[in-house]
Amino acid sequence: MNLGRNDLRRWLTAPDASALFAEARAVRARTKGDGVFLRGLIELSSVCDRDCLYCGMRHSNQSARRYALRDDEILACARLARDLRFGTVVLQAGECPSLWTRDRVAALVRRIKGETGQRVTLSLGERSEADTAAWREAGADRYLLRFETTDRALFAHIHPGAPLTGAHPRLDQLRRMKAQGYEIGAGMMLGLPGQTLESVVEDLLTLRDLAVDMVGLGPYLSHPQTPLGQESTPSEVPVSADFTCRCYALARLLLPAANIPSTTALSTLDPAHGRHMGFEAGANVFMPNLTPAAYRDGYQIYPDKICVVAPEADARSALYADLAAVGLRHAYDH
Ligand code: 5AD
Repeated sequence: MNLGRNDLRRWLTAPDASALFAEARAVRARTKGDGVFLRGLIELSSVCDRDCLYCGMRHSNQSARRYALRDDEILACARLARDLRFGTVVLQAGECPSLWTRDRVAALVRRIKGETGQRVTLSLGERSEADTAAWREAGADRYLLRFETTDRALFAHIHPGAPLTGAHPRLDQLRRMKAQGYEIGAGMMLGLPGQTLESVVEDLLTLRDLAVDMVGLGPYLSHPQTPLGQESTPSEVPVSADFTCRCYALARLLLPAANIPSTTALSTLDPAHGRHMGFEAGANVFMPNLTPAAYRDGYQIYPDKICVVAPEADARSALYADLAAVGLRHAYDH
């Protein structure tokens, strides 16, 4: 479908978006069928060198609990993902190149692929071209790096140390990784203080221009122990499940074959309906958290993060029931 700026603006503000959601479901049915892919999320560590103004794991937050998984614990999580027939693990961590060195990550990727035969997605933040090249060489398949916002001034404001002019550092890295042969995933937060509706239109068009394989987007959830959590600057962009779902649906129309998760932030914002609403708006992926229980509450990028505990049978049957309720089922994807 040929969606222009005006259409995007109109759908983001229309009184009712049910026709948009129906269209997104129809496109998903055509490109993806009724299968939902599950990705096992492993949160490797909550140690972070960066000081992003919105994130509870920022370096300066002294009340954050810091942990780092050992390699054998990570391998155990990857084996669990294989046993649950997820087929893919996502290794995500706070940005800390001294902990997640080029060699250590490359060795981990090789072991996970060799011992479990699964796909590996990395989400380790802003890293050098040489690092991502080495990991691709080791067998990493995909990389998630949200650009958070395409508004350069806002990006620079919320990411201390980011350049104010020139190319957007994350868009640059995404293009580089695409050239290296990664499937790439990107996206934004919705409802950041000072964020404009027009910039969200631009974010959506940027996802299309980058031809991303995966879209990761969710509501911004204010964290009291962060500078942005103290800011009272209003946003033109609502923090709501409905608005988030409009963006999923528009992303589905702009990128019909993309993999789009119904995100944890959406479930956290609306624990009773969020996950389900995401699927009803065209999402086709879910990422259950496989981080070992003892560490899980240490990864508080925003408060009260919902944990769908995939290994526990009751959580899994709740997930499967949720999928069945909207005519979907867990599909194995390699
Ligand atoms: N609210 C919502 N999402 C957040 N993230 C980080 N902090 C927050 C927050 N306070 C998201 C960012 C990041 C991803 C891992 O988590 O988009 O890329």
